[in-house]
Amino acid sequence: MGITLQKIAGAILFALILVVGLNLLIDGVMPTESRSVEHKRATPGGGTAEPAAVATAPAEPDKPLDQRLAAASVDKGQAVAKKCLSCHNFTEGGGTKVGPNLYGVVGRAKAGMTGFAYSEPMKAQGGTWGYEDLDKFLTKPSAMVPGTKMGFAGLPAGSERADVIAYLRSLSPAAPPLPK
Ligand code: HEC
Repeated sequence: MGITLQKIAGAILFALILVVGLNLLIDGVMPTESRSVEHKRATPGGGTAEPAAVATAPAEPDKPLDQRLAAASVDKGQAVAKKCLSCHNFTEGGGTKVGPNLYGVVGRAKAGMTGFAYSEPMKAQGGTWGYEDLDKFLTKPSAMVPGTKMGFAGLPAGSERADVIAYLRSLSPAAPPLPK
């Protein structure tokens, strides 16, 4: 009996030592953790810099344009281009709407449709519509051509832009070869 009680007491003592030891260990870790939190708070702007960086990080970065174009679908592009139909015609000889006719726009001079009153910033662009330029313009028209008359926010999804560009290319007999 005496021996069993001793064993139980020993076990309890051992458990106590374990708990106390763990507590000491945790205490040893805690101060460094709270110190680093305080350090972050003390850094000027440190508290706000982190969440902002998380918020602005793109969900999925766009693949390079040549890869997106290689995987693009003319049919999907035609569906996306419904967003453009209120302002643009896509048919040969279809004439202007709020915006110029987009038949043959790939490889055409920027602001190059005769009979359409382009904005001054668009007329000042120069050059022809290539794939990179179209991708840039359609991401956010007002960013590439500040002051453009095109009142369209843009297509943020890189795959949608590639699909639309593939569709425009299918309607452009003078389109240059796809970028490699
Ligand atoms: C709210 C009307 C509107 C919508 C919607 C719109 N556009 Fe435009 N777009 C315009 C106008 C207006 C211009 C002429 C811009 C200027 O002169 O600054 C233009 C110009 C362009 C040009 C340059 C054409 C050239 O001859 O230089 C391209 C390319 C273009 N749009 C593509 C698109 C595509 C693709 C879509 C759909 C994803 C679209 N636009 C949606 C109004 C619109």
